[in-house]
Amino acid sequence: MATSEQQLKAVDDFFDGPRDLDRLSLMSDDVEWWNGLGKFPGAPGQTVFRGKDEIGAQVLGRAPAPPQPNGRRVDRYDLATLSFDDIVTIDDGPYVFRQHTYRATTMRGRPYENVYGFLFRFTNEGLIDRIWEHWGTLQAWETLFQGPLVVTDPDLLLQTTPSVRKRLDLERPVEREVIEECMDLAVHAPNGSNQQPYRFLFIDDPVKKQGLADIYRAAMSDFVNRPRTSAPEDNIDRSDAASKRVTESVMHLAAHIHEVPVLCVPLVAGRTDGNGAGAQADRTNTFWQASRWGSVIPALWSLMLALRSRGLGSAWTTLTLLREQEVAELLGFEYDKWMQAGLFPIAYTKGTDFAITPRKPAAEVMAWNSYGAEA
Ligand SMILES: Cc1cc2nc3c(=O)[nH]c(=O)nc-3n(C[C@H](O)[C@H](O)[C@H](O)COP(=O)(O)O)c2cc1C
Repeated sequence: MATSEQQLKAVDDFFDGPRDLDRLSLMSDDVEWWNGLGKFPGAPGQTVFRGKDEIGAQVLGRAPAPPQPNGRRVDRYDLATLSFDDIVTIDDGPYVFRQHTYRATTMRGRPYENVYGFLFRFTNEGLIDRIWEHWGTLQAWETLFQGPLVVTDPDLLLQTTPSVRKRLDLERPVEREVIEECMDLAVHAPNGSNQQPYRFLFIDDPVKKQGLADIYRAAMSDFVNRPRTSAPEDNIDRSDAASKRVTESVMHLAAHIHEVPVLCVPLVAGRTDGNGAGAQADRTNTFWQASRWGSVIPALWSLMLALRSRGLGSAWTTLTLLREQEVAELLGFEYDKWMQAGLFPIAYTKGTDFAITPRKPAAEVMAWNSYGAEA
């Protein structure tokens, strides 16, 4: 039987040995490694790995990771950054148990921390022939496999995606890649005849952002000073505390909108207001309105949800539509061929915890079978 010292040294080498030490050399040929995750990219559902080849490829990550069905890349920890703390080791006969806190930075720069318990069994020759790896699998899944999502529960995502204005981080740059990743998801939204008759313009050029901000502020002044009618939207009571907070937040966005890292102007082909070119000029009924807007707004909302899940935020704004032609001229597209859905500021948010958005309960806004007359 291998001595206790030999076994303890093998375990010590397994974790703390030099980078160039081949960990497989510490194992027997018929070694088995149990790992409860079942989420390795090349082996979905598999929890036991057998033999040095399979362990090397799948568990030690030597084989290139195959692409995931969702297109997302699995993050890995950067072995140059690892550290072990709170180490407890017990040996008993052919078994050694070691528990530790593992800390590392992932290749994408995110901190990873997890507690592991490894049970090793040794052959008489002092080689490892079985490993049971116990660890916080949820933590590992969320950090390494799930991607850098700040909200992973779809119900919570739908409930906590607010209009973010004051908590837009104006200092932190937004990488084009994260916007492109969100758009890769947003294009899967439903749209009329699957023609995707929309274009999403993203503006990060400071001069153009300033131009859009000037139009936004001028449009806001148009809106505030508009002639009032008796319609409800012209007579909203904004005296309660919650409405005052919204007004203050709207003013804050207007004052800083040119500083937001990225502004988005979503377009949909054709016009429904009678100002369209050719056949579009008559396509103004609700069929055409619903079909056009319904071909851009689902993708737009998906974009906002994807941004939120990645720690970014936006606010739905429509004020610039009061000056749509000026925006078309500034951005160089034909006003009579494209309608704009609004102007969407995009930034990382300051913090990622957002309360559930305050809304009337569903029971107040739904009905079964008929609406209008009292049952
Ligand atoms: C069609 C539409 C137009 C909007 N226009 C503006 C706007 O021009 N400026 C603005 O700051 N917010 C605008 N908003 C955001 C609303 O004020 C916001 O969604 C509402 O106050 C509820 O806030 P919450 O989503 O954060 O809970 C708009 C929202 C929608 C859906």
